[in-house]
Amino acid sequence: MKKLLSVIMCVLALLIGLYPLIYAFVEHQYTFLGSKPLEVLHNIIWKSAFFTHIIFGGFALFIGWSQFSVSFRNKNLRIHRIIGGLYVISVVISSVSAIYMGFYANGGFISAAGFICLGLIWLMTTLAAVMQIRKGNIPKHERFMTYSYACTFAAVTLRLWFPLLKMATGDAESSYIAVAWLCWVPNLFVAYYINRKTAII
Ligand code: HEM
Repeated sequence: MKKLLSVIMCVLALLIGLYPLIYAFVEHQYTFLGSKPLEVLHNIIWKSAFFTHIIFGGFALFIGWSQFSVSFRNKNLRIHRIIGGLYVISVVISSVSAIYMGFYANGGFISAAGFICLGLIWLMTTLAAVMQIRKGNIPKHERFMTYSYACTFAAVTLRLWFPLLKMATGDAESSYIAVAWLCWVPNLFVAYYINRKTAII
């Protein structure tokens, strides 16, 4: 059961990690960009932040899951370090652009606050994981990275919650506002539960 869940998580991370590619193939008015007001779309800083965010966020999601395999890590510490470095750089770049974009989020203050909090926690847990490994504290490094990837995984859970809520309520705007929180708060509880279990072992 645990193995099946891990496989499902990896497949979802790979699929959603590649999802930003649709922006290269689909006309922008038919994507999420079609939902943004013209003044935001013409804001060059927002547009640059958007593409920076989705490219580096997608990359972090795509590579991050591979870091949690203990046997792979023990046998390939050098590769773990390289992928880890790329993950951290990607998260820093993607989270800073996400925090900026949060101020322009659809749905107003509540969804903006949800995305901004997520972006801040994403950045802080990732940097805390780096600080812990610099101090040589492997268990704390692993725990902070679990929280960090739980935040990264919000990109997947958002795309599961949103259609479900929209179908259940028939109200796309309220669903989006709820999802700005629902996409990450439960993920952090799951990460807390995983961390507690590994702390006991
Ligand atoms: C974990 C922290 C993240 C935060 C705080 C965040 C924040 C945001 C924000 C604020 C928006 C714009 C929403 C709006 O204007 O209404 C957005 C859109 C988007 N984000 Fe993220 N994001 C995160 C992670 C990711 C990751 C890991 C990916 C990788 C796939 C990603 C991919 C996208 C895409 C593709 C969009 C455009 C919406 C769409 O096409 O569905 N995000 N994000």
